[in-house]
Amino acid sequence: MSETILELKNIHKRFGKNNIHQGINLSLKKGESLGLLGGSGTGKSVLLRSIVGLERIDQGEILFHNKRIDNLDEEKLTPYRIKISYSFQTGALFDSINVFENIAYPLFEHTHFSYSQIKDRVGEMLKLIDLPDREEVMPSDLSGGMQKRVGMARAMILNPEVILYDEPTAGLDPANTLNVVSLMQRLKEKGLASIFVTHDIPSALMLCDRIVVLHQGKIIFDDTPLNFQASNDLIVKKFNATKD
Ligand SMILES: Nc1ncnc2c1ncn2[C@@H]1O[C@H](COP(=O)(O)OP(=O)(O)O)[C@@H](O)[C@H]1O
Ligand SMILES: [Mg+2]
Repeated sequence: MSETILELKNIHKRFGKNNIHQGINLSLKKGESLGLLGGSGTGKSVLLRSIVGLERIDQGEILFHNKRIDNLDEEKLTPYRIKISYSFQTGALFDSINVFENIAYPLFEHTHFSYSQIKDRVGEMLKLIDLPDREEVMPSDLSGGMQKRVGMARAMILNPEVILYDEPTAGLDPANTLNVVSLMQRLKEKGLASIFVTHDIPSALMLCDRIVVLHQGKIIFDDTPLNFQASNDLIVKKFNATKD
C-alpha cells in the first residue's frame, strides 16, 4: 500500500453561524487523484484553502507526511505551500506581465536558479501545457483555457507533490476542457497527487482514483469511481444524474 501524504482529521470550520465543515476526515496517498464533489457553497474551496493555510480551521488537524501543518505561521508554511500547490479557480495570472514572467514567478521568489535555468524550466513547462514558444504573449491575448493551463504551469513549476485544482474546467468549452484534463492526466502520470474540485463529473470519473462527496459539512461518500456510479445513495445519485 502506498503511503498517505496528506491527512485531514476531524476538520471543523465555521464563518459566524455558518457551520461549513463539521468533522471532515480525508486522506490522500502518494500519486493518488481524488475527485471532490459537492453542491455550490458546501465548502469545497474553503477546504482547499484550509489545506494551504489560506483559511484557518477551528478544530481538527491537517498532516503532511505525518507532520501537523494547520498550526504553522505564514513563514513556516512557505515550504509546505511549495509541496502542496493550489491552482486558483480563475487561473489568477498577473495581467501586466507576460506568460514567461507569470510561470517563472515562483522560481524567482523561491529559488536561486540562474536566468538560463529558469528559461529552460519555463520552456519545459510550456511544452508540457502544449503552448510552446508563447513566452512573450500577454495573458489577455490567450483564451480562457490557455490562461488556465498557464496558471497550472505556474502551480507546477516548483515540483509540488500535491496539486489542489479548484474547478479547473469551469467555464471552458469541450475542446479546452479536454486540453486541461489531458494536462492533468499527464501530471498524474508523472506521479503528482491531486484533489480535483469539480462539477464536471465525466472528467472526475476519467481522471480520479477516488470520488468524495461533501454534503452538509461532512464527507458522505468516499470510494472508487465504479462504486460511485453504482451507488444507491440518493445524494450521490443526484451527482450521477448530471453525468449525461
Ligand atoms: N471568507 C469567508 N467569510 C465568510 N464566509 C465565507 C468565506 N469564504 C467562504 N464563505 C462561505 O462558506 C461557504 C462555502 O464556501 P466555498 O468553499 O467557497 O463553497 P464551494 O463549495 O462552492 O467552493 C459559503 O457559504 C461561503 O459563502
Ligand atoms: Mg468553490
